[in-house]
Amino acid sequence: MSLLTWTKEQFATNISQHDREHQTIFDMVNKLHESAGGTDRSAIGKQLDALIAYVAEHFGAEESNMIKSDYADYPQHKQEHDKLVQTCLDLQKAFHAGEAEINRETTTFVADWLVNHIPNIDRRYGPAMNGAGIA
Ligand SMILES: [Fe+2]
Ligand SMILES: [Fe+2]
Repeated sequence: MSLLTWTKEQFATNISQHDREHQTIFDMVNKLHESAGGTDRSAIGKQLDALIAYVAEHFGAEESNMIKSDYADYPQHKQEHDKLVQTCLDLQKAFHAGEAEINRETTTFVADWLVNHIPNIDRRYGPAMNGAGIA
């Protein structure tokens, strides 16, 4: 069974671009979770780098749509993004320096973050973005 399963009921934000991005992130986390159970360090590293790059791009896309729609909670939302990005960059650096491993605890931490962030934080930007013509 996959670690993360995207369903409309639990995760839809009413912004199709961001829903698609969330589904891509779920796929990437699920694949990294599979690899993280094994010993192929170079595969894990490639998947980790791709995931972090994609997540950073996704956060940037959400932030630019929040700014475009004058979303009041933008500063707090950006702060949540920045905190996760910093944690991931630290981990990425330690992994490539051979000082840390990516295991299923790591992928479960990321999955838990997403399961909290998307329904509770992302979902709230839907009406503001819809009001600014973003759908
Ligand atoms: Fe998001
Ligand atoms: Fe977000």
